[in-house]
Amino acid sequence: MRMFRRARQTARQTLQGPGSPRTGLEEIHDVWEAQARADPLWAVLSETEKRERAWSVNEFLQTGEDQVARALDRFLEAGGRLPDHELALDFGCGVGRLTQALGRRFQRVIGVDVSETMVAVAKRLAAPGTDVQYVINQQPDLSFVDDGAVSLVFSMITLQHMPTPVALGYLREFLRVVKPGGGLIFQVPSHYADSYLPADRDDEPVSDTARRSETRVLSVPTVLQVGARADLTVAVTNLSDQPWVQSTKYPLNLGNHWINQDDGTVSMHDDGRGRMPGRLHPGETTRVTFTIQAPPTPGLYRIEADVVQEGCAWFASSGGDVGYAEVSVLEAQEEEAAGKGRSSQWTIFEDLIAPSWAEPPPFAMYGIPRPEVEQLVTAHGARILAADEWITEWHSYTYAVQAGG
Ligand SMILES: C[S@@+](CC[C@H](N)C(=O)[O-])C[C@H]1O[C@@H](n2cnc3c(N)ncnc32)[C@H](O)[C@@H]1O
Repeated sequence: MRMFRRARQTARQTLQGPGSPRTGLEEIHDVWEAQARADPLWAVLSETEKRERAWSVNEFLQTGEDQVARALDRFLEAGGRLPDHELALDFGCGVGRLTQALGRRFQRVIGVDVSETMVAVAKRLAAPGTDVQYVINQQPDLSFVDDGAVSLVFSMITLQHMPTPVALGYLREFLRVVKPGGGLIFQVPSHYADSYLPADRDDEPVSDTARRSETRVLSVPTVLQVGARADLTVAVTNLSDQPWVQSTKYPLNLGNHWINQDDGTVSMHDDGRGRMPGRLHPGETTRVTFTIQAPPTPGLYRIEADVVQEGCAWFASSGGDVGYAEVSVLEAQEEEAAGKGRSSQWTIFEDLIAPSWAEPPPFAMYGIPRPEVEQLVTAHGARILAADEWITEWHSYTYAVQAGG
């Protein structure tokens, strides 16, 4: 069987070549490269306490083993069957968190990713005794895989990071490369949750007269080291007579400033951000937690939290109340500067990433509405066995699909 039709091309040849379609893949590639070089593990699983290279490699890989075990159990429980365990394809494999776990269950696995750094790290972390091949693919298709070649197509937290038409293109490819009677397990968001972005919003900013807020700091550490990150929890009440409605054009967030207590100067005007809920009615109170970062200079600071409508105004400028607390910022201790909680296994791939951590550009989120997924799957003669919902700011589904034939 001829599995690979096309040799790998470089990003620039593939993405900017004459006549290449504008798919947004170039931007996607650049964002993931930057993410991978900053912290390839946190780029995959972005948990607040694991920021800045704080994942232990073993703990990180164990999450992949657990997730693959759960997903395969669920597929079988929903009535799914695989024709064999010859070949699995992990689309958007990252550093191989899930690919490795598939490698323990399939004779052969192909992990595919757009980012060369992700793939390079995946190769360094590869588990011995498994037949796993990592491929860089910067095409909007999977044309290096033959029709009907794959026993199981697997993809988690990947389709959500590309514009919907691009994700739909890959979904069609999944249905092309899967064997007759094979399986597909993939996750993709469908639509925003109303609590995050109401469908009936009009995208007008909150009016001047409605920016009446009461903001209280509920918790923040009283002592932090310079540059340290911590959670700030704030309660906000809408004191106006109009609802505050979240907007895509002018997002409503909680933000914070750092004021130096010695001289009253603003040391950092824009620090952390935490999203406000989709709608906050008059008189209603919400609680928002977000990450803050201590200023680079030691001293006694006042941290101020306020509602901000991005591109419009801070609410305190129109009569809102800021919430505040005092925080002492101390010199960093040496072991902190050396990198917290970092497992020695990072040394395996340290030369592949940036020498030190710096905030990478954020990745975007997109969805494919569930009816479109259902339509596409059915049109290819396949059947959705289960669509397990997971609600955060999005309604997201993990689909278990049985290919026809
Ligand atoms: C959040 S990570 C998830 C990694 C892996 N699926 C896991 O759960 O451990 C998303 C991955 O998708 C990759 N990716 C994004 N767009 C892609 C594309 N068009 N083709 C292949 N991989 C892509 C990124 O480089 C990144 O490694």
